[in-house]
Amino acid sequence: MSSNAHVPVLLGPVLEGLKIKPDGCYVDGTLGRGGHSKEILQRLNERGRLIAIDRDPQAIASAPEILTRDPRFELVRGDIAQLETCIDERGLHGEVDGLLFDLGVSSPQLDEADRGFSFMRDGPLDMRMDPDSGTSASEWLATVGEQELTKVLRQFGEETNARRIAGAIVRARAQAPIERTAHLARIIEEASPRRGQKIHPATKTFQAIRIVVNDELGQIEAALRQAVNVMKRGARLCVISFHSLEDRIVKRFMRDESREPEQFRGMPNIPDEFRPKLKLVGKPVTASDSEIAANPRSRSARLRIAERAA
Ligand SMILES: C[S@@+](CC[C@H](N)C(=O)[O-])C[C@H]1O[C@@H](n2cnc3c(N)ncnc32)[C@H](O)[C@@H]1O
Repeated sequence: MSSNAHVPVLLGPVLEGLKIKPDGCYVDGTLGRGGHSKEILQRLNERGRLIAIDRDPQAIASAPEILTRDPRFELVRGDIAQLETCIDERGLHGEVDGLLFDLGVSSPQLDEADRGFSFMRDGPLDMRMDPDSGTSASEWLATVGEQELTKVLRQFGEETNARRIAGAIVRARAQAPIERTAHLARIIEEASPRRGQKIHPATKTFQAIRIVVNDELGQIEAALRQAVNVMKRGARLCVISFHSLEDRIVKRFMRDESREPEQFRGMPNIPDEFRPKLKLVGKPVTASDSEIAANPRSRSARLRIAERAA
């Protein structure tokens, strides 16, 4: 698919969910190829504003010109765990009308062998969305303890063969450093052969390592908390997640923030600071059959929407 043909995931439901006000202030916390950003910007008038964030320098460098030359658009390289600082620095605390987080990796990240995300393409075992900070997958695998690795594969990959795969990785790294995606995929395949499964045996291990290397779950938790702080009353929060670990965090957060604390439940006069900060909007949205047929990666996408309460 050429970059021009890029159709963002769950586009219609996101645009509807954001309930865009033409003169509003919006944040796209995960620019990627700018698919959602372009559509949001098109719906704003000359007083509207869109701030787009991405931690990946390649996403920033290749942001579409239609966005970067638009004075209503601002591009920020950083991560969503810094959301509040980014918004505060611009004097927009409590002024944001809508936020979108379309989590996970982008197609260019997955497709480019050099980024090291894919077991289908041989490349350096990196997996960092921001290759200028943190520890690469290869460095992490070189020193992690076997028990810790088993735990990570179980928790973040939901891998049932975690112990066997972790043992194989630890034995293999004693022979030679694991520096290529194909090398890691081979180790996993040998330790945990396919045996008729639909998914490649390395799928879950690669997911688990990617989550750790990018602190993906910590990022989501921080971003959700901060999003609520920067939103205006009536503002919308749209979050698309791609696996159950992410979705569980989003679901719990939105549920907890949309309820009174237990001790106040059913009481007539709840102090302001204990009133729910969010209202849930509709049910979670998944891709239609036709979207999945056109874009198989949308199959696991799940959109949750909430509105900032008083
Ligand atoms: C699924 S893609 C977004 C696609 C985008 N909505 C589009 O239509 O092109 C996710 C993007 O978010 C970025 N990203 C993921 N987690 C991030 C985080 N914690 N902070 C900032 N950017 C993040 C990734 O680098 C990637 O470019």
